[in-house]
Amino acid sequence: MANRITKKWWHDKVAYQIYPKSFYDSNGDGIGDLPGIIEKLDYLKDLGIDIIWLSPCYCSPLADEGYDISDYYNIDPRFGTMEDMDTLLKEAKKRNMYILMDLVVNHCSDEHEWFKKACKDPDGKYGGFFYLRDKKNGELPTNWRSYFGGPVWDDLPGTDKQYLHVFHKKQPDLNWENPKLREEVYKNINWWLDKGLSGFRIDAIINIKKAFPMRSYEPDREDGLCSIHAMLKEADGIGEFLAEMRDRTFKKYDAFSVGEVFNEKPSELPDFIGENGYFSTMFDFNETVFGASEKGWYDAKPITPDDYKRCCFESQTKTGEIGFLSNIIENHDEPRGVSHYIPEGECSPKSKKLLAALNFMLRGLPFIYQGQELGMENTVFSSIDEVDDISTLDEYQVALDAGLSPEEALKAVSKYSRDNARTPMQWSDKENAGFTSGTPWLKVNPNYTKINAAAQLNDPDSVRSFYKKLIALRKDPEYKETIVYGVLVPVWEEQHNLMAYYRKGDKTLLVIGNYQKEAQSVTLPSPPSHILINNYPDIQKKDNTLSLYGYQVLVLEM
Ligand code: GLC
Ligand code: CA
Repeated sequence: MANRITKKWWHDKVAYQIYPKSFYDSNGDGIGDLPGIIEKLDYLKDLGIDIIWLSPCYCSPLADEGYDISDYYNIDPRFGTMEDMDTLLKEAKKRNMYILMDLVVNHCSDEHEWFKKACKDPDGKYGGFFYLRDKKNGELPTNWRSYFGGPVWDDLPGTDKQYLHVFHKKQPDLNWENPKLREEVYKNINWWLDKGLSGFRIDAIINIKKAFPMRSYEPDREDGLCSIHAMLKEADGIGEFLAEMRDRTFKKYDAFSVGEVFNEKPSELPDFIGENGYFSTMFDFNETVFGASEKGWYDAKPITPDDYKRCCFESQTKTGEIGFLSNIIENHDEPRGVSHYIPEGECSPKSKKLLAALNFMLRGLPFIYQGQELGMENTVFSSIDEVDDISTLDEYQVALDAGLSPEEALKAVSKYSRDNARTPMQWSDKENAGFTSGTPWLKVNPNYTKINAAAQLNDPDSVRSFYKKLIALRKDPEYKETIVYGVLVPVWEEQHNLMAYYRKGDKTLLVIGNYQKEAQSVTLPSPPSHILINNYPDIQKKDNTLSLYGYQVLVLEM
């Protein structure tokens, strides 16, 4: 069954996301930078990484930490120079590694020259790059709530108009209906691909198509506003933009593209990631969004191991052999995966390895977020003043407005804060976790003395060494074909706190995880021929019955 898909250069790769600001600071200003990334390339190569996705490092006022770009053709001086970028591309190439940048084109920054020109002449060329509406007294054009809180409309400075921003007010939405704007976007993409970039991660792309005529929807909170999703559900025709972008850019270069796509309709999956899809692949967010509440983070419900299993299998079943999802445990917008997906109080190297293997062996492209390979955990916030992230600050206010006390609100948002993922990478037990010789821009997680790269590099039992084994297995010529292309078949689906599946290709592999601290057993249909992965030193087996230790995970060849 496998192999119906045309093989692509990126299918068998392993990807790693770097959040530059928090990765490694080479010059002591407390901010991670490109020379810092170059210094750490060998660390990533040693782990087995092929593809590196850089979160934005373009010029930006950093209102949303770089997802608000003021110049698409330059590197922000805080992150380095264009020469550093060229060196990074060169050094990556030397190591057979590929660099992706973040493509943030649903919006730019209000400090981008396009926006400044639009303010000067709203009826001119650049006014047409944005969604502008005449200002009416006391009435907004629509009642949509921005993702970061408050209405999506703000006054266009110096004019009698208002502009649309579905994210922060410093992130004005670009008008994709305007062909001139689209040309600018394609020109920029091709400029980077010509430079030797291997592709892009495509930010917030599902927002580029708006529903017209723009109108208000039923309010869903006391603020009288409605979620952006009410509008997005009605927006048809995004495919035309995406197909045009693919044909004008990525396709000509055989570039890799991974979309940040939420809420696509199942019937659209082949259009997105099938043969000649809009993107090479897109992230699976089924687990990520589980338990989210329309009311806000304070009302979200935790995800259990059984929910996690169901979410993964749902995505796998839906995708089948249409294409490849990109599987993540966490990213820069999420809490640390081990803190989120492992029941409270049960985080340990064993359980972290279980989560790693269950996710890594799924069909699809594995993405590791910086520090995930070390088992980095959520941080502690002793006060809301320690929070940088605009989304967390908004959700804190939402929780207060809903009647939570400041302590309760802080506790609630701490679990979901994007800053959990943004604390500096923990390189060693030295001051500031070895991230900087200066003052880090965001407080280091105090657990760095125990959880850090230096301590794990040469320890064969560390979480990092376990990731390294998983990566090596994916690349092992014996098993590669099966792990990359093999079909996924869930097994013992009804067994509580157990997640198990076959990967069937030219070999048959069985992945079994006991997703709880208590032991439990399963009976194999036949004896395994090899144990490929085990997070314990042994297995307990009588005839074909396996007694699994707490949080034991196995990859068996059958
Ligand atoms: C994406 C990014 C997130 C950012 C948002 C707006 O979701 O991952 O970090 O805040 O888009 O660009
Ligand atoms: Ca720096």
